[in-house]
Amino acid sequence: MLKILVCVSGGGTNLQAVIDAAAKGTVTNTQIVGVISNNQNAYALERAKQAGIPAFCVSPKAYADREEFNRAFLEKTEELQPDLIVLAGFLVVIPKEMIRKYANRIINIHPSLIPSFCGTGFYGLKVHEAALERGVKVTGATVHFVDEGTDTGPIILQKPVMVNEDDTPESLQKRVMEQAEWVILPEAIDRIANGKIRIENGKVIQKTE
Ligand code: GRF
Repeated sequence: MLKILVCVSGGGTNLQAVIDAAAKGTVTNTQIVGVISNNQNAYALERAKQAGIPAFCVSPKAYADREEFNRAFLEKTEELQPDLIVLAGFLVVIPKEMIRKYANRIINIHPSLIPSFCGTGFYGLKVHEAALERGVKVTGATVHFVDEGTDTGPIILQKPVMVNEDDTPESLQKRVMEQAEWVILPEAIDRIANGKIRIENGKVIQKTE
């Protein structure tokens, strides 16, 4: 049974997709042992509570400095003893110590086809604004392992979404979430939970049946 910790900052629709997929059985062999948010007002915390999942707020505002926050965040994480940490709309820089301790055991969902529109400053609506500004015809979402860079770790899954001529950043974000994020994040978790992927030379290999 893969124990997962989900880290959130906002509405928690990706968290909800994982909760629903586990309930439906499209994600197997997985238990969400906790949800941590940096934002006490994140609706994602409410979603966790409604699903009976332990929910915690560890906010940088509650600590004297970043180092103290990092220590508290790592301490809460260790308490939950996750096998996998899932960043689902989590807007906090992951402490390097956590990345080292959980090497290749942290995954992130990003709302573009990496390496497009990613890296520092590309999050939430900004990603879709940039895609529309550039005039791309196809965008999508990516699930990747987290390394010490920003959106630079080995790619696990990607799913394309066509851009419509009348798209706004909001309409594009909604479709990318519905058609891509909420599909590939649960799928990636299920593959990891069932030993279907491995990393070779920095690339993710999908194990055949
Ligand atoms: C969304 O912009 C999503 O594309 C990205 O994180 C943000 C919040 O998603 N992954 P959620 O509703 O909190 O899962």
